[in-house]
Amino acid sequence: MWPATAAARGLRGILGTQHGLIQAPMAGAGGVALAVAVCEAGGLGSLPCAMLDPPTADAQMREMRALTARPFNVNFFCHTAPDTRAAASAEQQQAWRHVLQPIYQREGVAVPPLTGAPGAGSRTPFDDDMCRVVERHRPAVVSFHFGLPDSALFERVKATGACVMSSATTVAEAVWLAQRGCDVVIAQGVEAGGHRGMFLSSDITTQVGTMALVPQVVDAVDVPVIAAGGIGDARGVAAAFALGASAVQLGTAYLHVAEATITSPHKQALKAATADSTALTNLFSGRPARGVVNRLMREVGPMNTDAPPFPTAGTALVPLKAAGEARGVGDYTSLWAGQGVGLRLPWQHDTAAALTSALVGDVMKTMYM
Ligand SMILES: Cc1cc2nc3c(=O)[nH]c(=O)nc-3n(C[C@H](O)[C@H](O)[C@H](O)COP(=O)(O)O)c2cc1C
Repeated sequence: MWPATAAARGLRGILGTQHGLIQAPMAGAGGVALAVAVCEAGGLGSLPCAMLDPPTADAQMREMRALTARPFNVNFFCHTAPDTRAAASAEQQQAWRHVLQPIYQREGVAVPPLTGAPGAGSRTPFDDDMCRVVERHRPAVVSFHFGLPDSALFERVKATGACVMSSATTVAEAVWLAQRGCDVVIAQGVEAGGHRGMFLSSDITTQVGTMALVPQVVDAVDVPVIAAGGIGDARGVAAAFALGASAVQLGTAYLHVAEATITSPHKQALKAATADSTALTNLFSGRPARGVVNRLMREVGPMNTDAPPFPTAGTALVPLKAAGEARGVGDYTSLWAGQGVGLRLPWQHDTAAALTSALVGDVMKTMYM
């Protein structure tokens, strides 16, 4: 059992896992197979639902229930969707296509039309339909990214009996979440792969690293804190526990395993990446997210003020992404990964079960021997 504080023991009880090890929800990068494997290995598996429509989320939660009797986490985004019909939105999309014009030309692809819709692979915020799915399946844990849904939806989720968690990237966000009744705060350091969960600030220059964020969040809130960002082996887990975290959430480490559903260029990019290979970029969705630097990020980013609001920026990249991936390269593909991408342990284990067991075993040795 690790660690032994009352908060950590309480959290493990709530999460129903023997160990405080959570596989991060990763929209587009892992689904039922990954989450089930982690649950069965004694961690908390997470099912990302941000890129699913309600019927698909419903089917996947049913599948989870059929494949594991263990508790699991389902995860949603709760951003405010932009009004894609507004004139300002069309102007932004035009300006963005103008920035990308030389690349469309170079790749010989047509400029994608302005459809007014966010486009393929888009993310929708948690809403009434999705809440009904949650109410039907009553998962043990429900987590959110980008704040919390409105109070009516939030209360409905709480009424299912779920443990509700959300990401905080600053102490202010952690306090905001705890004050609104969030049961657990996930302190997401700037090292983390994927989207920054930031929702009170949009300034990436002031985002905080895991080492500084976790203890300050622990001091500021009365609820248990999960550490996320840059953790990929027992040293990181032990450090997070020493900082007061009650559990850890790992994303990038689980991208290496067979159950991850990432593209082959993404896998290759992870293999070649080292600690300084990633950057925060808003090019792929409109919100800052950390990924391996690729050609598009070098040419027009990594941050570009013309990228339209989340989640619409990616629509303009669809033909470029397809052209690159057809050649087997990830020049225009989001290659999400955190700064811990070069840690070796995840490489040595092919499956989510093997990685989870190895992590648990190593943490036991690191902390108790
Ligand atoms: C490929 C990828 C996709 C992600 N998608 C989500 C998501 O859908 N929901 C979410 O709450 N967090 C998402 N995250 C962020 C993770 O929850 C977590 O904060 C992060 O992975 C921790 O840092 P690490 O990658 O260094 O382990 C994603 C991370 C990655 C790497």
